[in-house]
Amino acid sequence: MGVRAQFKSRGGFVLAAAGSAVGLGNIWAFPTQVAQNGGGAFLLAYLLLVFILGYPVLVAELLIGRHGQANPLTALRRVAATAGGRGYRTSAFLIGVIGILGVSLILSFYAIVSGWLLGYLLSSSARLLGCSQAAGWLIHRSPLRDGVLMALFMLLTAGVIRRGVTQGIEQWSARLMPLLFLFLVVMCGYIVLQPGALEGLKAYLVPDCARLLNPQLLISALGQAFFSLSIGVCAMMTYGSYLPRSENVPQVAAQVVLFDTLVAFLAGLLIIPALFVAQRQGIVIYDQQQQLLSETALVFDVLPALFERLGVLGSGLSLLFFGLMIIAALTSAIAMLEVPVLCLTETRGYSRRSATSWVALGISLISMVIISYFNTLFNGVVTLTTHYIQPLVGLACSLGVGWLWQRASLLQEIRSGYPNAENSLFWKIWPGYLRVVCPVLILLVFLAQWW
Ligand code: PHE
Repeated sequence: MGVRAQFKSRGGFVLAAAGSAVGLGNIWAFPTQVAQNGGGAFLLAYLLLVFILGYPVLVAELLIGRHGQANPLTALRRVAATAGGRGYRTSAFLIGVIGILGVSLILSFYAIVSGWLLGYLLSSSARLLGCSQAAGWLIHRSPLRDGVLMALFMLLTAGVIRRGVTQGIEQWSARLMPLLFLFLVVMCGYIVLQPGALEGLKAYLVPDCARLLNPQLLISALGQAFFSLSIGVCAMMTYGSYLPRSENVPQVAAQVVLFDTLVAFLAGLLIIPALFVAQRQGIVIYDQQQQLLSETALVFDVLPALFERLGVLGSGLSLLFFGLMIIAALTSAIAMLEVPVLCLTETRGYSRRSATSWVALGISLISMVIISYFNTLFNGVVTLTTHYIQPLVGLACSLGVGWLWQRASLLQEIRSGYPNAENSLFWKIWPGYLRVVCPVLILLVFLAQWW
């Protein structure tokens, strides 16, 4: 095998990894959870948990990937090998398999939701062009529409992955992430000037501290942090394997966490005031129990209704908004598809092109099955992956790095790119923290499902 591809620059890696983290989780799920769980209190809990749990596990995943310089199956086995024992290696391999299955299943529902987004984007364009019939078809759910749009999104994702890491992922992320950021800032500026927005800003930014003690809110915030940082499905491990040895992993991880959190924060800054503006205009968002009408209400019903009332300007804004969502979804889907593709190319000798085609086809078939039995399967797959697989694999990574990876070897890995690591506060706190605190917190999220 030749020299493995690597991200060419630190900027390129941070953008690509941030592109993986920033997605529907930030722009759709995060504001929806803020709206459902007490505004500012949820924001505060989320911020705390991203830093105390998300960051340390992200460092662990990136280090496993870079140490292994290989796909997650091989990389996990290499970490387990430092502890000796065949049993450890087999368990590590199994965790990798679960992660790969998890990321493939996540992509299968992610592509469906992203297809809906494509529908809204194309519908806004169709309306601008005066094709109202097509515009209507594109936003009304039907198995045919869902299937066509999902396949279109998969084609876009596979198109980037087929070109490989440095030409595909890095270039695309480098172009798309700054654009996404700019979109968000422009949209925030617009919404904040609308009547009713200040009330929304207050709800978002001023926490009701009493609600912080609500375990349900803390647990939702923890789960959201996990999904948003792409932890627990080997995606960050895969990107870590492309990270040059000269890079300082704890620092790079901190940059990714900061960028991901900033985008989630900005998305909230856009959508929560937009919600209040919509309410001021008579659009119904909450039911009588003050619950959001539906999980998809905020982005798929409320925002389009709000845009519609703004006439032509609204259609333009709608185009911007859904364009932004698709950019975010695409850079996440790229990171997901790369995981099984890399495993097939490195462990089975497939070419990148054929691995991409086969995996994309396989995942599209799963998506088709989900679309066909939507009401039965969709929520089940989301729950299986985000409530079970991600916590389980994340837990295994923190236990594996915390307990199995020999300290000297771990330190050596961190020191490449961070020569003074052993004297740092990071090295004094992180290994012990990862052994005990992280597994306990992840277990709490996991067990919370039965409360
Ligand atoms: N973090 C992505 C988002 O917020 C989702 C994702 C999960 C991406 C797992 C890769 C792996 O949308």
